[in-house]
Amino acid sequence: RSMSRRRFLKNLSLAGAGLAINPLKSAAQPFNLGPSIKDNPLVISTWIHGMEANQGAWSILESGGDSLDAVQKGVAVTENDLNNRSVGLGGRPDRDGHVTLDACIMDHDSRCGSVAFLEDIIHPIDVARAVMEKTPHVMLVGEGAQKWALENGFSKATFDVPVPPVQKDYEEWLIKSEYKTGVNVENHDTIGMLALDASGRMAGACTTSGMAYKIRGRVGDSPIIGAGLFMDGDVGGATATGVGEAMIRTAGCASVVESMRRGASPEEACYDIVQRILKKHPGVNGMQVGFLAMNMQGEYGGYSVYNGFNYALRTKDRNEMVDAKYMRTWE
Ligand code: GLY
Repeated sequence: RSMSRRRFLKNLSLAGAGLAINPLKSAAQPFNLGPSIKDNPLVISTWIHGMEANQGAWSILESGGDSLDAVQKGVAVTENDLNNRSVGLGGRPDRDGHVTLDACIMDHDSRCGSVAFLEDIIHPIDVARAVMEKTPHVMLVGEGAQKWALENGFSKATFDVPVPPVQKDYEEWLIKSEYKTGVNVENHDTIGMLALDASGRMAGACTTSGMAYKIRGRVGDSPIIGAGLFMDGDVGGATATGVGEAMIRTAGCASVVESMRRGASPEEACYDIVQRILKKHPGVNGMQVGFLAMNMQGEYGGYSVYNGFNYALRTKDRNEMVDAKYMRTWE
């Protein structure tokens, strides 16, 4: 059941090349109306890299630790992996050759912190948490975020960024420099994680290097509270992956949480936002967008525009990938 990150990426490049997909073909799967499994502590996170990330989170959750510590430690595992091309400093650069990172963290008390357009720092999620805990603000960006981080105990990476294989790909890309906003999104995904700890506290984290070869200065949904991550302790939380502009336009994760507030199951809430995105933003045709949600009872679910989106689940008894339901199939 390995996820089809490779297939997802292949399909995205096919989409970029305008090849054989029929993005309008519907294969909508019915969402789950009823409760799914309740089993806390539990953690879910996007894509196959979520398996290792969940393991990092689980080392805290299994001993009764705090969900906030768990999600921070969990996604840091992915940030630390320099072979990951969409998260952390191993990610692909913007079109000017700079790797710029976006991340945020949030808990059930609506405490949150965020960094965007941050360069040369290995763990943007740690900076996001420090912004939350040590400043009166929610979000720091760019040069200012880096300056603040360096003044507050963080250091610049001592290795070359982009990492050499990424630099090589970038130099090849430069020859044609083909880029169409929102279409040329090959090798683009994110880690979003939601955890409910043994005491019933929920937290979420989201971190990414963003779209490959994006315009310098572009910030996606991942550091935007309400777009790439949202949480409300009365209801639950949501996180997202895929083409971030779609999540920002719809306040995607905030919308998922509001649907759950009105009684939708996590999966139904994800289905609702995917449907809304497709209706209101037809530019998403041919692009992947996926959501994960969890309510405070520990029910969870996901839904995506296209097949191929899956998520890693860890509970006391389960440690596996789960295929999200989807609206359309790649053809
Ligand atoms: N979802 C990540 C991004 O669009 O940057």
